[in-house]
Amino acid sequence: MNRVKVLFAASEAVPFVKTGGLADVVGALPFALNPQEFDVRVMLPCYTCLPPDYRAQMKDERYFYTYFNGRDRYVGIRSLVREGVTFYFLDNEEYFGGFGPYTDYTYDIEKFSFFCFSLLASLPGLDFKPDIIHCHDWHTGLIPAYLKNTYGGDPFYQSIRTVFTIHNLKFQGLCGREYLCRISGLPWTLFYEGSLCSGSGGNMMKGAIQYADKITTVSNSYAEEIKTPYYGESMDGLLQWRSADFTGIVNGIDTSSYDPETDPALSVHYGAGNVTKGKKAAKAALQKRLGLDPDPDALLIGMVSRLTEQKGLDLVLPLLDRLSQPPFQLAVLGSGEPFYQYCLADTAAGRPGRVSTYLGYNEDLARQIYAGSDAFLMPSRFEPCGLSQLIALRYGSLPIVRATGGLKDTVMSLDKFGEKATGFAFESYDAGGLHWVLDMAWHTFSQQPKLWTRMQVNAMKQDFSWQRSAELYQGIYRELYNR
Ligand code: ADP
Ligand code: GLC
Repeated sequence: MNRVKVLFAASEAVPFVKTGGLADVVGALPFALNPQEFDVRVMLPCYTCLPPDYRAQMKDERYFYTYFNGRDRYVGIRSLVREGVTFYFLDNEEYFGGFGPYTDYTYDIEKFSFFCFSLLASLPGLDFKPDIIHCHDWHTGLIPAYLKNTYGGDPFYQSIRTVFTIHNLKFQGLCGREYLCRISGLPWTLFYEGSLCSGSGGNMMKGAIQYADKITTVSNSYAEEIKTPYYGESMDGLLQWRSADFTGIVNGIDTSSYDPETDPALSVHYGAGNVTKGKKAAKAALQKRLGLDPDPDALLIGMVSRLTEQKGLDLVLPLLDRLSQPPFQLAVLGSGEPFYQYCLADTAAGRPGRVSTYLGYNEDLARQIYAGSDAFLMPSRFEPCGLSQLIALRYGSLPIVRATGGLKDTVMSLDKFGEKATGFAFESYDAGGLHWVLDMAWHTFSQQPKLWTRMQVNAMKQDFSWQRSAELYQGIYRELYNR
């Protein structure tokens, strides 16, 4: 049987480069798809900041020059096979140099336009012609637009179908429309009346929503929310128009990597069967590592997050005073907007035994916080899916969340689900709601320890593996392949 060939296009994937959940998804989903039926490969930019170990393992496939934004540009294609999946890396040191995957926003528009354009240009020279290109987020938004326009007249490209997954509608690749038109080389007519412009600006993601054969986002609730003006970031009308081809598929996590029974980042291992003892030891280890008071009775709340408005920091700040006093302890790991960083660091400096703030990215500490915290705070303003709460559930740290997007779909709040609950959720985006739900968590933790343990076991037994969601993506690929 001919396997369906699927090429993922994305700006990040674990273990190569990660700034958020996008990398977790792109690095895990290809492994969850049935290899008997699908030949799935991934193409990423070959950032010079990729770890040298991985760069050393790459094989050169080919190189060529392509005319883009005013001159000939080098395009190298390198590859690396990881556990049976081929990862391609599109090389151009001028565009993909620098300390991280993203640089300045305007320059990112140009470099990811280049990525989209040259990814397509590279296909005829590879021994892998995709039936479907699965594009992720705005960085790859021009691929469907190029396929239907610039490359549309070439028979090689005509049978290629596209899926576009929205991981975060907030970021659309917005810029001046003359600018996007000039650098992308796409016809001016697309910028004049619709497909690639919103208002008077150029918009890379809009092109994908317009031209992709299928559109998905990463939870059912977010799929519904973004068809409304409040969450729709000006794309609600277009998404409604495309609703026959638009679905929500909730993310999974890599349950073999995120496993408290085997996680090498932990000094104490535990499972649902010995959660009380295991979490107690993990909590003591975390308090020690972070210099928090060794207080077994505190409700230790963890946060591992980008420190941005999206993640509900505006609700956390007014409650910082409360969270930094008994019975609470707070352990924050994150980086992001300077104002939030300053407030969190300042609180930690004033209350070292109760609050710890680690500014930066640290994979091991993240895992120790998931394991050592009693509860996990994620009161997002909006949340397309959220992986952090899924990892927290798996490590028996009960999520305290705002009921929005993927948080609504994956956390079962005590007030609604009783004995079956896995966490605590509030509805309206205000500090009063968060205050209320913190009270509920504290009351349960301190007064109903049996119920708390039961919720931990419920949480740890949830199935957030990729299995079910992979099946849904396969359904979409099959439908497009047979079209
Ligand atoms: P988003 O992609 O919006 O940032 P998600 O919840 O989908 O949010 O995914 C965040 C991922 O990034 C999780 O795997 C989380 O553990 C990880 N993460 C976020 N911030 C940090 C950090 N400072 N250090 C280590 N891991 C982090
Ligand atoms: C985005 C979203 C997050 C989601 C992740 C992976 O970064 O903010 O909610 O989990 O993508 O899909």
